[in-house]
Amino acid sequence: MPYDSLKALIADLEKDGSLQHVPIEVDPAWEVAAVMRRVFRMPQAQRPAVLFDRIKGSDLPLVVGLYGSRRTYARILGVTPTRINERWLHALAHPVPPVFVSGGPCKEVVLRGEAVDLTRFPVPTWTPGRDIAPYIAGASVVTRDPESHVRNVGIYRLQLKGRDRTGLNINPPQHIGIHSRKYRARGQPMQVAMALGADPVVSMVAAAKFPPDTDEFAIAGGLRGAPLELVKCETVDLEVPATAEIVIEGTADLEHLEPEAPFGEYMGYMSPQRLNPVLRVTAVTCQRRAIFHALLSQKPPSESSMLRGISNEASLLGALRGMGVKGVTDVHVTEPGGAVMHVVVAIQKLHPAHPREVMTAVWGVRPYYGKQVIVVDDDIDIRDPFDVEWAVATTVQARRDLVIIPDHTGRRSDLSVEPERRDQDRSDKLGVDATRKWPYPAPAGAGPEHLARVEARWPEYGIREVERE
Ligand SMILES: Cc1cc2nc3c(=O)[nH]c(=O)nc-3n(C[C@H](O)[C@H](O)[C@H](O)COP(=O)(O)O)c2cc1C
Repeated sequence: MPYDSLKALIADLEKDGSLQHVPIEVDPAWEVAAVMRRVFRMPQAQRPAVLFDRIKGSDLPLVVGLYGSRRTYARILGVTPTRINERWLHALAHPVPPVFVSGGPCKEVVLRGEAVDLTRFPVPTWTPGRDIAPYIAGASVVTRDPESHVRNVGIYRLQLKGRDRTGLNINPPQHIGIHSRKYRARGQPMQVAMALGADPVVSMVAAAKFPPDTDEFAIAGGLRGAPLELVKCETVDLEVPATAEIVIEGTADLEHLEPEAPFGEYMGYMSPQRLNPVLRVTAVTCQRRAIFHALLSQKPPSESSMLRGISNEASLLGALRGMGVKGVTDVHVTEPGGAVMHVVVAIQKLHPAHPREVMTAVWGVRPYYGKQVIVVDDDIDIRDPFDVEWAVATTVQARRDLVIIPDHTGRRSDLSVEPERRDQDRSDKLGVDATRKWPYPAPAGAGPEHLARVEARWPEYGIREVERE
């Protein structure tokens, strides 16, 4: 269990520059978004997380970019980047239920009624000039199913609407959408609790898709190898991680909807205004020296696509294995596809129809994912777009190897669907069988053994990368 709190993670990342401080005052209305875009133009492995020490108009520091690279994601799990999926699969097979404690750091300050003022938080505007308002983007939102009583945790955006009001973006297929329909049918408001800056594994499970009625806090326990400590909320019947930096509690009125958005979304375009519930905040609890935690979303590359991509590829791999699909060695949910649209699967091919079986299994187990699924042999590095395109170039004949399923399940945020059909949640699916169909000659060029020997004595050659201006 490498880190049990956001502050423990920050302290560790600071040691080797994986997290860097911005000491000058920064404007949340435009500057945070622009600085983080600049950071995300850096090669993924070299991006630091950023702690903004001074945000205009707020007394709290702001941390963004903690999940900006596979390297840091792996560090949070205490493994090397190549072991991320293994760690996840272990956690899915061995969930550890949370334990309840009577208090915790998130209760150091308790604010109710007039004392609640969300506008004092350093909440950035992520698409300056186009977002309707600042957005809390990165809260792990907890709700409870009124029938099964199982809680759900997901990350959903919250439009800052005032001192004690936020918009709550509810998409029908998401688990919060399922919960809200059940509360509405009962004529009840929905209680909600939002944790910011909890134990770092919490954002990982909150961003991932699991079957409904999975307790994501138990998966978080599996990831950290010890139970997550939960504490009761002050004003709602929910529990939140005790070490969270900030907790916002409230009630969503599901009958009276208000306009929410425009907001720059994860696929890289502005979303239109929608009608969504308003959350009335009933209490805020926080640490005395709280750090406000946010996730950079909008056009990939982004922290949102990194976080959702890595978490979702592990949960997809686990689901495929759970269905009994044989020969799947690895899964990659690509970042340019917004960590939902494009999936690459590596297999040890067992028979000619095996790649098609794998595609249909992906579409069956995650219908909203994988608008395009490419299946390759397991010697291809599925996280290297160059290697994947090489596989496609050298193995695919369009007439033989493409599978098109019209009108499968889709996402309404997919702008390639005709505007008048978008609310039907439909999309065509494309499968590409990029495996070798018969024995190929051996690959050309120096092989792994020779490359490893060169790597071992690389400094001796005196060759270095040309520095960019
Ligand atoms: C920064 C960020 C913001 C997100 N905002 C939303 C959102 O507003 N609405 C939504 O449906 N999903 C959003 N997501 C994606 C969900 O968190 C993700 O699909 C998750 O699996 C939802 O939880 P659930 O599967 O328990 O419903 C966001 C993800 C991230 C990382």
